[in-house]
Amino acid sequence: MEDMAEKIYLNDDWSFGKKDEKARETVRLPHTVAITPFHYFDESIYQGVFSYERTIDAKKEWMGKTVLLTFEGSGHDTTVSLNGKVLGAHHCGYTAFSFDLTDELQYGEKNELSVTVDSRESLNVPPFGFVIDYMTYGGLYREVYLEVKEKAHIDDVFVFGRMNLNGPSAQAEVSIYSTVEVSADVKEGTIICSMAPFDHPEEKKELFTKVIKPEKKSLKNKTKAHVKLWDVEAPNRYILTYELLADGTIKDTKEVVTGFRDAQFRKDGFFLNGRRLKIRGLNRHQAYPYIGYAAPERLQRMDAKILKNELGVNAARTSHYPQSHYFVDECDKIGLMVFTEMPGWQHIGDAAWKDQAVKNTADMVKQYRNHPSIILWGVRINESPDDDEFYRRTNETAHALDPSRPTGGVRNIKKSHLYEDVYTYNDFVHDGKKHGVDHKSQVTSDMNKPYLVSEYNGHMYPTKSFDWEEKRAEHAMRHVRVLDAVAAEDDICGSFGWCMFDYNTHKDFGSGDRICYHGVMDMFRNAKLAAAPYETARKEPFLEISSAMDIGEHPGCNRGETYIFTNADSVKMYKNNRFIKEYIAEDTPYKNMIHGPLVIDDYIGDALDAEEDLSEDTRRILKDAFNTVARTGVSNIPPSVIMSAFRCVAFRGLKASRGIDLYTKYIGDWGGESTVYKFEAYKDGKRIKTIVKEPMHSLHLLAEADHTDLCEGNTYDMAMIRLRMLDENGNTLSFCNDPVSIAVSGDLELIGPKVVSLQGGMYGALVKTTGKAGQGSVTVSAEGAEPVEVAFTIAKNEEGRR
Ligand code: GAL
Repeated sequence: MEDMAEKIYLNDDWSFGKKDEKARETVRLPHTVAITPFHYFDESIYQGVFSYERTIDAKKEWMGKTVLLTFEGSGHDTTVSLNGKVLGAHHCGYTAFSFDLTDELQYGEKNELSVTVDSRESLNVPPFGFVIDYMTYGGLYREVYLEVKEKAHIDDVFVFGRMNLNGPSAQAEVSIYSTVEVSADVKEGTIICSMAPFDHPEEKKELFTKVIKPEKKSLKNKTKAHVKLWDVEAPNRYILTYELLADGTIKDTKEVVTGFRDAQFRKDGFFLNGRRLKIRGLNRHQAYPYIGYAAPERLQRMDAKILKNELGVNAARTSHYPQSHYFVDECDKIGLMVFTEMPGWQHIGDAAWKDQAVKNTADMVKQYRNHPSIILWGVRINESPDDDEFYRRTNETAHALDPSRPTGGVRNIKKSHLYEDVYTYNDFVHDGKKHGVDHKSQVTSDMNKPYLVSEYNGHMYPTKSFDWEEKRAEHAMRHVRVLDAVAAEDDICGSFGWCMFDYNTHKDFGSGDRICYHGVMDMFRNAKLAAAPYETARKEPFLEISSAMDIGEHPGCNRGETYIFTNADSVKMYKNNRFIKEYIAEDTPYKNMIHGPLVIDDYIGDALDAEEDLSEDTRRILKDAFNTVARTGVSNIPPSVIMSAFRCVAFRGLKASRGIDLYTKYIGDWGGESTVYKFEAYKDGKRIKTIVKEPMHSLHLLAEADHTDLCEGNTYDMAMIRLRMLDENGNTLSFCNDPVSIAVSGDLELIGPKVVSLQGGMYGALVKTTGKAGQGSVTVSAEGAEPVEVAFTIAKNEEGRR
């Protein structure tokens, strides 16, 4: 929400240190109380009581106005004082809070602002009380600002649309409901509201003008308008401008950027703008390597873009707390639906704790309800037991503050008490063998209410980017099996996989190094193989092969199953330039998915026909047998294959030793000089992607920054550089764990170590601007590879902000 009030960011020049200790440093926000190692660290390093101090230069011309101080987020319990007087405290690490400084400031003077931040996990507020599967980093980790307004001003605006659609629609006649709250100083006033398409502000039209009744401090209005709907395909947004006219002048203006859409969870599925749409989402934590929660705007936006453009999902769950407005705003902008929830994890505390949780629910709804991307509120502590009284309160709170959205509440228990509108359940039934998901009827306690799967996989199969190939392939296939199963069940609204990327966690959850390897990406957002089933839903051409095609990586040198992940119509496979087979998209065994993977079942093609002097029958039998053995392994050969092979030897004169030679030649590739596999993906008859797998000859470093046009705006900017070691064909070298040096020059600072080890051929780096405009560069080097340089420009000023 933008408005005409003067907004002054207080992100720089904070003096920071441990409470009551002398050592201080000057820091900028977002700030984390401790830069953490990548892994193997104790969470006590970010827990403690810290203080932040800075001055507020209160201008004389602010006198007679209202001055508000807002913290977007501080982990976790925060007390704010001005000139030695305590203004108040906030007991939630994930919601914003404000103080009215009007009567406290010494105008024309420097005022001492002092903030105490307690990040101990022993606090009696959500999510604390028991062990939690994520780290709860501390600090003033979001931005802080002042707003200077007229005394008569707009406090808050809430806007949403309602419509009746007869089937799938891209535009509609919408009833736009506005609630405008004004300050107590408004004795008499009028609200003038106008609306313009976000991309065409010049098309601004008046929506309504309405007088605020003197005895009321809020106004409600309903006006009809014809709009283009907000959708995952076309995220149309509008700017609604609310002007407060009092005493003949415009006292305040508030701009709300929102969108109108019809998002309905029904008992038979989810519908967006009148069309059935399966929610395909991933869970996202707000954590980053080294900096924990303290990521500035561009890194927040980056995650939304990765989800939508790279991982091809249409939704994200902000597990397990409200996340940065920058992240959610990007979701609004690019068309990614969001399920956001109150902070909490499994544990429910005492009465005071519950009161705080209810307050957190109210704050979440009030602060995020204008985001069109949010389609569902989570009003249960994630995976907590039933608590009727508590959950009656959280549901009532959410409904009272937002009549436009349903509530859900994430549980891991079946048939539990249901106060929410949607039964949201973490379904971990798939263990590699069992079915992908349970039916709705097996889980929900009310078949007349909608049903959504809020998590799957995760701890069922933690997988590292440097695990062996079959483990990584199985990780991917578990995501495939659940996605396919969910897609088959019309009355499951959709699902959110656990989770987008690996994250630091407490000792009881991760792999002993304080990392939960549950992500389809690693901590630097490098795609693991398990990202591939999602990536096939991307708009751009996509092709990935689950194997490096190296027999030595498999037990007994058997190939096992190899999968093709693509969004193409077909994929042609070649071996040493001989065409083997064209795999057709429709032949996937996973027919419910948008693009199910294809299973490689032929390594021979017509090679035996062309090269071996054998009878037609023998060639056919051997081809079948060899291809089967390639997948099952010698010790698991099916009896039918053994019988056929036996027949070839007994009745067709094939020597057993020749059979073995042929197997070695056509399947094993054992001792072959260099086997080259080539895969070509075709769409509409055109080749859109090619992958070549052959023995590597040289190392190639790849360094890609999420953005190189850095900008010092409200605060510093950061970029994430994703690193990979590739072969000459662009394939990631999954077992390259070599050291890599990261050197930074110019007006940039490197966060994290200068020398790192690749993990599974991948890693990353974070760079930060230093307050200056200019240039910077990052050079990444490793033994045996050409160094790569990423050049950055650093602009400075508000206008330059993107
Ligand atoms: C769930 C929990 C998540 C995460 C996940 C791992 O039970 O809600 O936060 O721990 O398990 O699979």
